[in-house]
Amino acid sequence: MDTRSDQLGVRDYEKQAAARAAAQLVQSGTVVGLGSGSTATYAIRCIAERVRAGLSIVAIPTSEKSRQLADELGIPLTTLDEHPEIDIALDGADEIDRDLNLIKGGGGALLREKIIASASRRFIVIADSAKQVLRLGKFPLPVEVIPFAQTLIAMRIAVLGAQVTLRRATDGDPYVTDEGHQILDCTFGEIADAGALARKLEAMAGVVEHGLFIGMTEMALVGTDGEVLEIHPRDQP
Ligand code: A5P
Repeated sequence: MDTRSDQLGVRDYEKQAAARAAAQLVQSGTVVGLGSGSTATYAIRCIAERVRAGLSIVAIPTSEKSRQLADELGIPLTTLDEHPEIDIALDGADEIDRDLNLIKGGGGALLREKIIASASRRFIVIADSAKQVLRLGKFPLPVEVIPFAQTLIAMRIAVLGAQVTLRRATDGDPYVTDEGHQILDCTFGEIADAGALARKLEAMAGVVEHGLFIGMTEMALVGTDGEVLEIHPRDQP
């Protein structure tokens, strides 16, 4: 009987193992970006344990949810205005390809996540093994849009070949991001050229950000059944 997965689902176990490994990379005296989502939540908890044990950092969370958790756990917080240069950011992903390009934003925090990733010297992705894919695109790509333009942008993205759905909150109203925007979830199937798609989306007026993180990831820590894999873009066959 697998008692480990009885207590914690296999994926959660993998997320937690990856998060624990990533938290060890954080050094005293640094500015740390805190991601969003379930894997990042594990990392925030691990970092909080280290802070209680004497680690001295300041952190910038990528969502209100992560900010609230980090604050409750006693992690000293700062802002991007005070610290526009971040030493290391730890965040989850919805899909990771072999070049460590990502789809992110399943939790709705892609805009702040991308800002923090772009401001970080080291951007480390943490994930369970189910997030590894050969090609991005099975997971619906979140695109954050200005509410005023959401129907127009949905039509334009549909022309690119995606099935587009406006994300809704549990009460049925459109989901609203921390920055007051809406999200279109766009299912492309396998994306042949993620860079080209990113450029097309960025050219659409009213698109605030999209969940393709291209060439931003220094390393992925992926939990597996037996160990945490350290994956670098050039390691890939
Ligand atoms: C949040 O907006 C996302 O980018 C998350 O990082 C992503 O959805 C991964 O989430 P989990 O760690 O919960 O799988």
